[in-house]
Amino acid sequence: MFSRIARPSLAVCSSARNFSSSSQSNAKVAVLGASGGIGQPLSLLLKNSHRVTHLSLYDVMHTPGVAADLSHISTKAKVTGHLGSDQLADAVRGADLVLIPAGVPRKPGMTRDDLFNTNAGIVRDLCEVCAEVCPDAIMGIITNPVNSTVPIAEEVYKRKNAFNENKINIFGVTSLDIVRANTFVSELKGLDVDKINVPVIGGHSGVTIIPLLSQATPAVSFPQEERKKLTERIQNAGTEVVEAKAGAGSATLSMAFAAARFAYKMLDALNGADNRVECAYVRSTETPAAYFATPLLLGKNGVEKNLGIPKTIEYEAQLIENAMPELQSNIKKGIEFMSK
Ligand code: NAD
Ligand code: LMR
Repeated sequence: MFSRIARPSLAVCSSARNFSSSSQSNAKVAVLGASGGIGQPLSLLLKNSHRVTHLSLYDVMHTPGVAADLSHISTKAKVTGHLGSDQLADAVRGADLVLIPAGVPRKPGMTRDDLFNTNAGIVRDLCEVCAEVCPDAIMGIITNPVNSTVPIAEEVYKRKNAFNENKINIFGVTSLDIVRANTFVSELKGLDVDKINVPVIGGHSGVTIIPLLSQATPAVSFPQEERKKLTERIQNAGTEVVEAKAGAGSATLSMAFAAARFAYKMLDALNGADNRVECAYVRSTETPAAYFATPLLLGKNGVEKNLGIPKTIEYEAQLIENAMPELQSNIKKGIEFMSK
């Protein structure tokens, strides 16, 4: 069991209050996969943020049009479009934050792991250029299977001698799980969603998604049957969207919102804010799995401090145990892909 004593001093995976922080920054943010279902609305949210001064859009298709469109919006960020691999280095040069939603999404009947064969190579190739051109940038990997693509990204950095074992700047973006948990709890309990905060730890697929409903703030209580049902809904929420879209892809708009939530907190932290906390999937020693999402205090180098696994009840401790085989196998698959 991996339960811990709660650390109550910081708002864990803190709520939307931070989402609309007014701090200014001068950041270059690159979106790789910017023309896609996530990439376009995410780029819109970034263009609309005072935190961003240069929004750099990269894709293998349609970026001139997406960039021209966004560039007419009357906010301060300069927008540049970059098309095709010859233009990738320019897209990421000098970036403070690189967000990667490039890759194929699920169709009904598929698991996230079924995307591995296509997306592993896409993430590897993009990260190879980032490791060379902007090795210190914060990386936010959205591309599935996140449980495997984050280890792939770190293996690329190791190969390129861009890896610093004392620093964690490569994140798997799991904020959508938190956004969903907050939404569902607010609906069930009739609470203001802006004030709810449910930490979600582990990984980003099925049983590896571990909502800690016992640690929600404000505190909410559930009979065990309801807790189990809600936990499973959060774990399967991606599939809920994939099925509703019936072949037209997976979550895009809610993911753009979630990635923007991650990006805004990260940019605020890069700009000196000292209380930005978010759960994300990173290299970790918290469990036997080499990567694990926990609440993280964000800072100028990425992870300022891993706040560890919050206190859990028995049911949640069991969820952590149950997640280990799948999580460890996903991680191994990513690392082995890079050792070929
Ligand atoms: P999409 O097909 O709508 O868009 C993907 C974009 O990536 C396209 O514009 C495509 O041209 C681009 N692309 C493909 N290969 C590329 C390459 N080599 N370089 C640059 N761009 C490339 O898909 P989407 O709905 O935006 O989803 C993208 C990924 O995000 C999927 O893998 C999906 O599973 C994942 N996702 C993750 C989460 C999460 O919580 N982390 C949530 C939703 C979706
Ligand atoms: C999600 O959670 O919505 C994403 O991981 C996309 C998916 O395939 O479910």
